[in-house]
Amino acid sequence: MTTQADFIQHDAEPTSSITAVPHHIGIIMDGNGRWAQARGMPRIAGHQAGVDNIRRILEHCVQRGVKVLTIYAFSTENWRRPPDEVSGLMRLLGLTIQRQLNELNRNGVRILHSGRMEGINKHLQKQILNALEVTKDNDRIILNVAFNYGGRAEILDAVRHIMQDGIPPETLTEEMLSSYMYIGGIPDPDLIIRTGGGWRLSNFLIWQAAYAEYYTTPTYWPDFDENELDKALIEYNQRERRFGRVLNQ
Ligand code: IPE
Ligand code: IPE
Ligand code: MG
Repeated sequence: MTTQADFIQHDAEPTSSITAVPHHIGIIMDGNGRWAQARGMPRIAGHQAGVDNIRRILEHCVQRGVKVLTIYAFSTENWRRPPDEVSGLMRLLGLTIQRQLNELNRNGVRILHSGRMEGINKHLQKQILNALEVTKDNDRIILNVAFNYGGRAEILDAVRHIMQDGIPPETLTEEMLSSYMYIGGIPDPDLIIRTGGGWRLSNFLIWQAAYAEYYTTPTYWPDFDENELDKALIEYNQRERRFGRVLNQ
């Protein structure tokens, strides 16, 4: 039963130009700081606006039939930011889990985490683990939060685990290596979206994005709305995914 506070209750307008829906979308949520600065606000206000935007995009992903949404929330390189911004971002994740976990759970959202736990304070670690546990049986959509995440760190961690498990080198396959990634077993992203105008991965899903379609927009993350997501999906529908083959011969 849905209540007033629930989300995912309206139907998105059908769009005939979106027939192929990506199973898994990755979003590099960039531009929060510039969004705030443009309004004469502190950067952390931009991060708060960015967090608020996750819900509407998640909801629209459900409406469109996306099954996995990976959001890049904090990179291993973001520790290089000023200490008050770093602690502000840590606090925001904790508060967001506290405020939104029940509602996400009620709406069938399964939360996963990609990233290193080391470096995150113990209390926040517990909150993250609790969110994974509470939502583990949900299957409407997976919200994978890349937090303290780096693609190189992920590959390094996978290789370390493989060595610890004593896997003989000649038996290692790409599929096995994939299964050692933080959320092994989840299909690779079909579409990577970057807001805020950049044209780089910034260490996001570098193993999994090998054949993802890439889309970038100058729109800052807090302004990236349902319409903007549809634009990305329409563009995705115009791409021909060849995976190295020659098509239409
Ligand atoms: C992205 O927004 C969010 C994080 C990296 C946490 P930024 O904070 O990078 O925003 P800009 O790029 O400075 O505008
Ligand atoms: C990428 O944004 C990381 C996240 C969105 C969490 P950054 O703002 O950190 O990326 P660079 O530094 O511009 O590459
Ligand atoms: Mg940035």
